[in-house]
Amino acid sequence: MCGIFGYVGQRPAAPIILDGLRALEYRGYDSAGVYVAGSGVVKATGPVDIVASLVPKTWTGTSGIGHTRWATHGPPTERNAHPHSDMSDSLWIVHNGIIENYQALKEGLLMQGVQFSSDTDTEVLAKLIGSLYRGDVREAVLAALSLVEGAYGIAVMSEHDPYRLVVARQGSPLVIGLGTGENFVASDAAPLLIHTKDVVYLTDGEVAVIDRQSYSITNRAGKAHTRLPERIEWSVETLQKNGYAHFMEKEIFEAPSVVENTIRGRLLLERGRAKLGGIEAHLPHLASLERLLIVGCGSAYYAGQVGRIMLEEYGGLPVEVELGSEFRYKRIFAHDKTAVLAITQSGETADTLTSVRRAKEAGLLTLGIVNVVGSTIARETDAGIYNHAGPEVAVASTKAFISQLTALALLTLAVARERGLSLQDGQAIAQGLQELPAALQTVLDRAAEIKAIAATYATYRDAMFIGRKLHAPIAYEGALKLKEVTYLHAEAYAGGELKHGSIALLDPSFPVVALAPRDAVYEKMISNIEEVRARQAPVFAIGTAGDHDLSRVANDVFLVPSVHPLLQPIVTVLPLQLFAYYVGVARGLNVDRPRNLAKSVTVE
Ligand code: AGP
Ligand code: GLU
Repeated sequence: MCGIFGYVGQRPAAPIILDGLRALEYRGYDSAGVYVAGSGVVKATGPVDIVASLVPKTWTGTSGIGHTRWATHGPPTERNAHPHSDMSDSLWIVHNGIIENYQALKEGLLMQGVQFSSDTDTEVLAKLIGSLYRGDVREAVLAALSLVEGAYGIAVMSEHDPYRLVVARQGSPLVIGLGTGENFVASDAAPLLIHTKDVVYLTDGEVAVIDRQSYSITNRAGKAHTRLPERIEWSVETLQKNGYAHFMEKEIFEAPSVVENTIRGRLLLERGRAKLGGIEAHLPHLASLERLLIVGCGSAYYAGQVGRIMLEEYGGLPVEVELGSEFRYKRIFAHDKTAVLAITQSGETADTLTSVRRAKEAGLLTLGIVNVVGSTIARETDAGIYNHAGPEVAVASTKAFISQLTALALLTLAVARERGLSLQDGQAIAQGLQELPAALQTVLDRAAEIKAIAATYATYRDAMFIGRKLHAPIAYEGALKLKEVTYLHAEAYAGGELKHGSIALLDPSFPVVALAPRDAVYEKMISNIEEVRARQAPVFAIGTAGDHDLSRVANDVFLVPSVHPLLQPIVTVLPLQLFAYYVGVARGLNVDRPRNLAKSVTVE
């Protein structure tokens, strides 16, 4: 995790680096630091703003590096904050990742008399590079990296050669931004947008030297690689709050436009089909699969659980869903009738990425549903569907989750029609997708109702979420959202599972959020809610429009528009996102940056 930002140019570097770090704070925010050549170093615990307040106005240096940290080795203190330096304090480094053999390297350096002032693995790398420095930073970095095991994205700058930034990537993302008379490097493309749309993505094993006019890339043996710049399409507005109090609120309210973007140009209404350019060439193979393995983490995993039911029920395709952190250590059975689908917003999640690599090694076709264009998983999968949800800044996933479900519905439509779903059924799904943005807008127009309900539930300590079939994973997602942004204890169960143990928890102080749309299991859900009521637990039920019976069994009710059953979870999850948001705000928390979390989990 963590964010790296580097600059070589003609303008004062500190404000540029600090702004870049602010845009990367979603990746880690326990401490931060900045080094500006010829000016100095400032580090502090807490967010980037604290560092910014400590940087003297007199700093005029026009090159430097900065870091916002998510600690892995050593607590988030000032002395552990990056940048770290070599023995002479003239060479500075910022690092994202973990140096796995840092202990052995440290012992070797200690024997040479090197002294350390932090607990980090990063400082070991800084001292190692320093010990190998013979006048050329790139040479020293190459020599040091040949001794290192682990994952890194690093940026290195020397006081003696301040207009040459040396960067290297192995497992942690780095993007070079190309300006005029100035160049940048960052952990992702978003903070580069205000400066340039021309970027160069580094891939694993590459080392680059960046100066004010140019960049050059080699592999770790020093062999040159040619890589042409790419243009990014995201607009700068997507990175601003645009009048909303928080990014999370803004991103929840983007749901209708996000769905529009995910389905744009992909629906063939009359033919009842979905046209997915990225996977079209693989569609016959997909249609002949005997099994699909979906891999993801956190919300993406829950999206996969919804996708499983969609693909099984409508496409007749058996699907298994695995957590990235488990799949990567699982025995994989090579089979040409099996494919793997990775779902990931960032496209950088280490557990999901490793799962993709293992699946490829086993000879399986790998697909992706990925939001960040050009991310590692987008590049490494054989084919995929981009979400087109735009950058998601809040740590808790909201709009990306909605677009993941939308992409899964499109995939289901494409695959199911190949596997025998009728024209009429296909048309109904396509039409339903087309009407989805309007249905989502109806929910958002009534956000104040959820806010009022959330105010009541914000006073409890716990919450249980229940749902069945397509809505069982939505219950899990609702509980995850609440945990992440409110720190309340929340758990989720498939409605029918409660009676097998967890119902023991319920009493008047333990509310239950029940997902009860009018679907095939509606009556069963009502029975589950009755069981809850019998324990006097307060119930907040989410149902579909026209349901006048729910208020008989629930204390609070919110009705969402009824849409095609396959698409209902995409609408039903929206009030849960709003609920978590409003409870978090009512509890006075920083909902955009919950404690202990980072947006992009690039460590194992
Ligand atoms: C959920 O709100 C997220 N905080 C988290 O669970 C996320 O979904 C997970 O880390 C996967 O991220 P990815 O989609 O970028 O791979
Ligand atoms: N391992 C390094 C540290 O603990 C870098 C962590 C990060 O990626 O922020 O400082």
